[in-house]
Amino acid sequence: MPITIENLGEEIDFSKQDLLQEKSILTLILQNYIDFLHICGGKGKCTTCKTKILEGMELLTPLSPAEERLKRLNRLQADERLICQCQWSLEKIDLSSQAVLRLAVLPENQLPHLQYVPLESDLGKDS
Ligand code: FES
Repeated sequence: MPITIENLGEEIDFSKQDLLQEKSILTLILQNYIDFLHICGGKGKCTTCKTKILEGMELLTPLSPAEERLKRLNRLQADERLICQCQWSLEKIDLSSQAVLRLAVLPENQLPHLQYVPLESDLGKDS
């Protein structure tokens, strides 16, 4: 069950055992030595882990109270999640299938020492 970080060119594959440990998507990414902003340490306060979900939103756990609050304030769009607050939803994925989560790091949360590629959907926006 891969997680693809589309604009970083990174793909991480997880075993069933990883999923059963119910770790956040952020934790799974960090455990694979991929740098990802998370200034508040995963408490749902800073929004530096806010990420655009390109595919697989339905496979994630429901919005946390912190995400619900941001959504009410219009600071979390329908295609965005705080990845420190969500996990793969074991109820929604068939562990024998190839569920895929594709995400993209938002421009405001990109780290200066990493190289991000523009998404196809972003190409041509500034011209
Ligand atoms: S790490 Fe701060 S909100 Fe997720």
